[in-house]
Amino acid sequence: MAAVEQVVQSEPGTGRVKMRGDNVRVYYGEKQALFDVNLDIYEREVTALIGPSGCGKSTFLRCLNRMNDVVEICRVEGSITMDGQDIYAKDVDPVHLRAQVGMVFQKPNPFPKSIYDNVAYGPRIHGLVSSKSQLDDLVEESLRKASIWEEVKDRLDAPGTGLSGGQQQRLCIARAIAVKPEVILMDEPCSALDPIATAKIEDLIHELRENYTIVIVTHSMQQAARVSQKTAFFHLGNLVEVGDTEKIFTNPEDERTQGYITGRFG
Ligand SMILES: Nc1ncnc2c1ncn2[C@@H]1O[C@H](COP(=O)(O)OP(=O)(O)OP(=O)(O)O)[C@@H](O)[C@H]1O
Ligand SMILES: [Mg+2]
Repeated sequence: MAAVEQVVQSEPGTGRVKMRGDNVRVYYGEKQALFDVNLDIYEREVTALIGPSGCGKSTFLRCLNRMNDVVEICRVEGSITMDGQDIYAKDVDPVHLRAQVGMVFQKPNPFPKSIYDNVAYGPRIHGLVSSKSQLDDLVEESLRKASIWEEVKDRLDAPGTGLSGGQQQRLCIARAIAVKPEVILMDEPCSALDPIATAKIEDLIHELRENYTIVIVTHSMQQAARVSQKTAFFHLGNLVEVGDTEKIFTNPEDERTQGYITGRFG
């Protein structure tokens, strides 16, 4: 098992920077939550964001698809680019951006609709399909990619909310995939799940990495070590250290990183 994980993790991404944060500063009213964060997210890699509660992981994640736009008191400064383009530029439609940079939340949040409609919703509103059969195909393809097709194919009309927590989370991943994103953001996607459901999501993250760039926030050091190629350690709103996951967990540069990964604080 360990050997298999090693092989999977050593597969290179493309080496290309997909998203870049430059001197990102975030304020909630007067309070500054992030201080000059410089972070590159590499294409077709999994980047894990770790650090103690309140250090700004979710805040940074939400900057990447402009989810902070909806927080009235939140102000974002600095620059964030995707493929070299400023995602905060005036001509960028945040709704379109959030299809390209999808998000999966801590608590599975399927819509109160059928399993089919949960997945079909995005492609419908973004006009990605022109016929019912195309939509059927896209729903199936998305559910397959999210490793949940076999479990739901006979009950696509049943409510998404009737699935188990782990199934709901995979349904939410299918929903994110259905609109053909390039980047998937996951904020503690397994924290409400049992170990078996967690293992399924982690396996899925390995598979998704072949086609997507993934940024995951996690409180589990083991999870970060298992699923990610890069790890970024945040502390009190600062990005303390970022690098290859193996290096961060075996030989970090900063004593704050060392302290956190060995459980001395946080
Ligand atoms: N909507 C908000 N309004 C005001 N302050 C906020 C808001 N969201 C976050 N903050 C503040 O910004 C800081 C960073 O919060 P954030 O949620 O990004 O931390 P986190 O690292 O994700 O923590 P956790 O591990 O607990 O999820 C905290 O001090 C938090 O109180
Ligand atoms: Mg958080």
